[in-house]
Amino acid sequence: MSAQSMRRKPLVIGNWKMNGDVDVAERLIADLRAALDPGLLDRVAVAVCPPFPYLGLAAARLAGSAIGWGAQNVAAYPNGAYTGEVSATMLADLRCAWTLVGHSERRTLFGDTDAEVVRKAQQALAAGVAPVVCVGETLAERESGATESVLGRQLDAVGAVLAAAGEGVVVAYEPVWAIGTGRTATPQQAQDAHAFIRARLARSGVASQAVRILYGGSVKPGNAGELFACPDVDGGLIGGASLVAADFVAICKAALRRAA
Ligand code: PGA
Repeated sequence: MSAQSMRRKPLVIGNWKMNGDVDVAERLIADLRAALDPGLLDRVAVAVCPPFPYLGLAAARLAGSAIGWGAQNVAAYPNGAYTGEVSATMLADLRCAWTLVGHSERRTLFGDTDAEVVRKAQQALAAGVAPVVCVGETLAERESGATESVLGRQLDAVGAVLAAAGEGVVVAYEPVWAIGTGRTATPQQAQDAHAFIRARLARSGVASQAVRILYGGSVKPGNAGELFACPDVDGGLIGGASLVAADFVAICKAALRRAA
């Protein structure tokens, strides 16, 4: 492990997506509180991103623990006539530490553009909520050799905002072809993409050695260790496996091995 990567505290975030109900949320949170001990949480930052309606519950149940919580999306506007949207200041009210921005499901299913991702990241930062900016290429883009141009475009759009934000910035590399498919990037593919992302962020003036770059896409207990062993993989954004407490805890423990 290089001295640079040791400086970056590993981070594991659970993205519950549109899953669960109140009982599921209660149980998952209780199980995580019971299983993630303070020693681990001291060395690995852990957070969950439930659906919006359960953020208040997460805030109540996780208050006083070292487990953080965040949202899966945020409005690109501060407040006003935006029916159905949730503002960054509302997330701050619920003491969200994080919000995902530009998840590929938002980009592909709901048309989030690079420009909106920038506005969402700006809104989050202005409210004191740290954006986790998600980037990634589709299978067709990878197979046509366009991975770096796609990542470059997504990163350059948001580069100035992240550069101004300073050191707390988090980027998630989520190859679209690996999300929910059971098909994971190999450690080498992940490392190559993460190294590219770090270098590209530096070009925008981001303090990229301090930026945590998470890998997301079919991370499971069985593959987390080898992914987190890559020098530029600073943790994970976990979808399906974050809904099973034992699996999510095992993934957090895999990140522990990376911690200084
Ligand atoms: P997955 O999802 O772990 O289910 O592949 C990851 C994500 O979309 O954040």
